[in-house]
Amino acid sequence: MSKGVKIMILALTVVFSLVLVVNRSWAGDAAKGEKVFKANCMVCHGEKGDGNGPAAAPLTPKPRNFTSATEMKGIDDARLHKSIMEGRPNTAMVSFAKTLSANDIEDVIAYLKTLGGFGKMK
Ligand code: HEC
Repeated sequence: MSKGVKIMILALTVVFSLVLVVNRSWAGDAAKGEKVFKANCMVCHGEKGDGNGPAAAPLTPKPRNFTSATEMKGIDDARLHKSIMEGRPNTAMVSFAKTLSANDIEDVIAYLKTLGGFGKMK
C-alpha cells in the first residue's frame, strides 16, 4: 500500500470517528435503545411498549403505554429523563440511574420516541 493511500485511510478513519462522537452527543441511538428496552423495561412496558408486559397486570398505576398519544400527553424530553433517572414515586417505576449508563438512557429514550405516542399531542 502506498503512503498516500495509508494517509487517506487514516484521515477517513479520523473523520468517521469524529462524526460518530458528535452524533452520540446529539441524540441516542434507537437501535441500541431497543436492546436496553428489551432487557430492562419490556417486562412491565410490554414488547411493543404498550404497557402490557408480563409483569404489568397486578400494577396500579399501570406501566405507561408509549404507543398512546393520550398517555404520553405532556411528556417531554426533560420528563422522560427525570422519570427514568429518578423513577416515579409510589409506583413500580423505579430509578434506573444506577442500573443504566447515561448512554443507555439516551438510547432507550430515542427508542421510546419511535413507539408512536411521543410528541403527538401537546
Ligand atoms: C417494574 C415495572 C417497570 C419497569 C421494569 C419499568 N417501568 Fe417504566 N413505568 C412503570 C409504571 C408502573 C409506570 C407508571 C408510573 C406513573 O403512572 O406515574 C411507568 C412509567 C414510565 C414512564 C412515564 C413516566 C412519566 O413521567 O409519567 C417512562 C418514561 C418509563 N416508565 C420508562 C421506563 C423505562 C425506559 C424503563 C426501562 C429502562 C422502564 N420504564 C421500566 C413500570 C415499570
